[in-house]
Amino acid sequence: MLKEVSQRKIDFKRQARSQFDDWANAYDRSILHHFLFRPGYMMLMEEMARWRLSHAGPFDLLDIGCGTGEMAGILAAACWPVTYIGLDYSPSMCATATEKARAGGCPNRVIFVGGDSEHLPLADACVEFVICANSFHHYPHQQAVVSEVYRILKPGGRFILVDGFRDNALGWFVFDVAITYIEKSVYHAPWHVMDRYFNTAGFTNISRRKSSILFPLLATIGDK
Ligand SMILES: C[S@@+](CC[C@H](N)C(=O)[O-])C[C@H]1O[C@@H](n2cnc3c(N)ncnc32)[C@H](O)[C@@H]1O
Repeated sequence: MLKEVSQRKIDFKRQARSQFDDWANAYDRSILHHFLFRPGYMMLMEEMARWRLSHAGPFDLLDIGCGTGEMAGILAAACWPVTYIGLDYSPSMCATATEKARAGGCPNRVIFVGGDSEHLPLADACVEFVICANSFHHYPHQQAVVSEVYRILKPGGRFILVDGFRDNALGWFVFDVAITYIEKSVYHAPWHVMDRYFNTAGFTNISRRKSSILFPLLATIGDK
């Protein structure tokens, strides 16, 4: 039984990597990107703009499960003094993101690294901001990831996690039925479980926000 559970968790990661390796080239043009992922970027930007009102200086930001690095381009367009670090488990996503940043002449400091959200290759208390969009449901050890984020955040730093909202009928159908049928090894945590992850890790000022009607998303926000 225990062996079965840990094999299932290894499958989560293996499947995510191969799915996104295959998808890396077409990801930005996909219909899901347009309808599902893009509203998540807008949520992140709105929340970050709010944070910037009281944090005007330069800051370092880690984007976990950064995919093709869309957020790097959006942040560059906002002209904020941010050093952006994108981390992704799929080597092809990282390669596409790096190429895009190079071709777009991204003016910010941008770096993409391959890595697993559970073992962030960063020192304790080294970044002001962490974001994670549309990726968390692929993580087999979700509590471990939220605790890792807490470790690498500076005191006063903020974490915003955006993922599918499955706590109403539509969200349940989209994420727990349709997306889970397509992606198989995924888990969309209900909002109260997200809350528990953040509380257990030590986050304070935990708040949440839902957006989008057709493909509802949940943003969970916490401060260190
Ligand atoms: C749907 S994409 C989202 C990409 C980007 N955040 C966005 O919103 O466009 C999910 C990403 O999470 C990455 N991912 C999945 N499991 C991961 C893990 N354990 N550690 C880091 N990244 C992971 C995938 O490789 C993929 O690029």
